[in-house]
Amino acid sequence: MTRHFLRDDDLSPAEQREVLELALAFRDDRFIRTPLAGPRAVAVIFDKPTLRTQVSFATGIAELGGFPLTVDGTLARIGVRESVADTARVLGRQAAAVVWRTHAQARIEEMAAHAGVPVVNALTDDFHPCQVLADLTTVAQHRGGVAALAGTTLAFVGDGANNMAHSYLLGGATAGLHVRVGCPVGAAPDPAVVTRAAEVAATTGGSVRVVHDLAGAVAGADVVATDTWVSMGQEDVGPEREAQLVPFRLDAAALALAAPDALVLHCLPAYRGKEITAEVLDGPQSVVWDEAENRLHAQKALLSFLLERR
Ligand code: NVA
Repeated sequence: MTRHFLRDDDLSPAEQREVLELALAFRDDRFIRTPLAGPRAVAVIFDKPTLRTQVSFATGIAELGGFPLTVDGTLARIGVRESVADTARVLGRQAAAVVWRTHAQARIEEMAAHAGVPVVNALTDDFHPCQVLADLTTVAQHRGGVAALAGTTLAFVGDGANNMAHSYLLGGATAGLHVRVGCPVGAAPDPAVVTRAAEVAATTGGSVRVVHDLAGAVAGADVVATDTWVSMGQEDVGPEREAQLVPFRLDAAALALAAPDALVLHCLPAYRGKEITAEVLDGPQSVVWDEAENRLHAQKALLSFLLERR
């Protein structure tokens, strides 16, 4: 059966551990596996802006022995010029896998239903699961390995309704983390995602909690994460949104509430002085550059896993 990675809970806890162990192995030796040798092509399609995702997938696919076939979604106009299903059928006849950054989650689900090859979510409006695999790799790297992840408390503060919050909830629960989301009442996660994350957490020993004060989320946390207040596609939000989010800014006072050695994560791009201060982003507890590098290792591990499971 063709496996896809459309949302964080598409990997079982054991499968996620396998992928994270392989990501750490790729950190040590970038050329241990070449499942795309040939080279076979992987289509990497962008309907939204990108830097890290394009660079890390292109580099990773090349390092796996393959050919990264980057497609500009504004030229392909998938779903306008041609249906998602027909595009999937064409891509699946030629590429070994499809990686897609797009808008609605339903689009990538439709791609997966028709491609016949693994489809990977490189960010949708609802989830950014590759980023959370990289983030878990980063915590494992700094905290004694994959086995040390379970029981770790991760606080995400800011826009709780966005793709990162959703992926921390689902991916964190899969890893057995205690995930706390601190967000305004008007920017809370999708209740269906919270419910699903709680179900997963019940099987892994983790937990999930959504609170509407920063201190309630961050107090004693081992890892503190945030993300932009204005996600791609939301650029026309008004100033009242920023006013709502200011109390959830990750600054030095907020970080001081966490464990003394808490790690700071940010998927980038970061807006210093908005969701995070320069002092915290560029400070000694920040591991954001490891996190950016780990996109490469985690996605290589994920692609290897999906291609070898076919
Ligand atoms: N929430 C952000 C993540 C960027 C990597 C966005 O969707 O724009």
